[in-house]
Amino acid sequence: MVGNSQNWSPDTWRSKPKKHIPEDYPDPAALDAVEEELTSYPPLVFAGEIRTLRAHLAEVTGGRAFLLQGGDCAESFKEFHPDNIRDTFRVLLQMAVALTYGAAMPVIKVGRMAGQFGKPRSSPTETIDGVTLPSYRGDNINAMAFTPEDRIPDPQRLLKAYGQSAATLNLIRAFAKGGYADLRNVHRWNLEFVKDNPQSEQYGALADKISDVIAFLEATGIISQDSRPLNEVEFYTSHEALLLGYEQAMTRVDSTTGQYYDTSAHLVWIGDRTRQPDGAHVEFARGINNPVGIKCGPSLEPSELMQLLDILNPENVPGRIVLVARFGADKVAGGLPRLIRQVEAEGRKVVWSSDPMHGNTIKAENGYKTRPFDSVLKEVETFFDVCRAENVHPGGVHFEMTGQDVTECLGGAQAISVKDLSSRYHTHCDPRLNATQSLELAFRLAENLRGVRSKKAA
Ligand code: PEP
Ligand code: CO
Repeated sequence: MVGNSQNWSPDTWRSKPKKHIPEDYPDPAALDAVEEELTSYPPLVFAGEIRTLRAHLAEVTGGRAFLLQGGDCAESFKEFHPDNIRDTFRVLLQMAVALTYGAAMPVIKVGRMAGQFGKPRSSPTETIDGVTLPSYRGDNINAMAFTPEDRIPDPQRLLKAYGQSAATLNLIRAFAKGGYADLRNVHRWNLEFVKDNPQSEQYGALADKISDVIAFLEATGIISQDSRPLNEVEFYTSHEALLLGYEQAMTRVDSTTGQYYDTSAHLVWIGDRTRQPDGAHVEFARGINNPVGIKCGPSLEPSELMQLLDILNPENVPGRIVLVARFGADKVAGGLPRLIRQVEAEGRKVVWSSDPMHGNTIKAENGYKTRPFDSVLKEVETFFDVCRAENVHPGGVHFEMTGQDVTECLGGAQAISVKDLSSRYHTHCDPRLNATQSLELAFRLAENLRGVRSKKAA
């Protein structure tokens, strides 16, 4: 047991204060019926896989592995397409290759995929041209179109989101285990990449090195054609455990251990807006045995973080907790050290990860919500510096990104400008790094990690 099962059951969250969970379903009985139906659906992931991920995250806690988490801000019914799943998966593999090379340690790959639908919103309503409607809350709740009907929460959407998650995960499993992710394909992933991608050459050079090493090891007989670590990849899923009715319905007792696991994803996290120690989201998360992320923003006090760790990880099990710092490029150096010091002083075992997206959102002159590539890079680099100065392992990164060639974040080698934003702005919520920006970022971070390693070695 890694959580805290005292006086807990999958529904004890219902009696706690609930934030960002819609209460305006016109027919609550219909919602109950859908949740009931979901309880009989197959789990999306298995408890054994969740335990394996937890063991990998314990390695990150120990400074021997690195966590790469990434994917859509919000998955959507509209963007559901095999090519989109493949492209995001492929870019994550490419990023992992760059980071493995830079960090010289295993990179644990976790998608914000196959279940990342529901969104907390800063305002419950949205006003356009004097018309006010309920906000869009994610495709598993209501629809994005700005009409009164579209914004009504519809429980049937939960079933559709479950189906989409299952199909997405099915394809990911096929890619991960069926040959696509074979490290011998390291060049092929690049060939499918957007043309004129400025990162292509750098990636090609790294892929050449990897191919040479594989050929050498095969020639010496150290590895063979069917060596599993090369042919297959371990890939995990994650999302924010926001819509607790759905998460409850997906929570099952594992027959091997008799313990509860949320089988909607391997890892779930608690958002920056829903991490109140006495709130519903923390209550739900404490009883499940999955790894749990906690978003840590500027308003989180060290004492409150300790309270959360007491509730969520009373046994101080390594691999249970991932702390995801999301301060903003200019705030992370000021805000993060006090959290790290408290965690260290109390000997808490956690993974430290950086989400450089949510503290760096700005509104461009033309009204588009965007994020500058330079701020994203700066936040992670500052996070690395802070962790090193405090003597903790900078354990991971958490990105909103896509394999598509969208124009949602500014800058990068493609120099996306404010006027470019409108050309391919497809996100259903926050702006994502596109394929090229994601790979560029991975290379910049790999250089940083490698630079520190060579300095240490010298
Ligand atoms: C998110 O990860 O999409 C999100 C809403 O983040 P945060 O809770 O950190 O604002
Ligand atoms: Co987001």
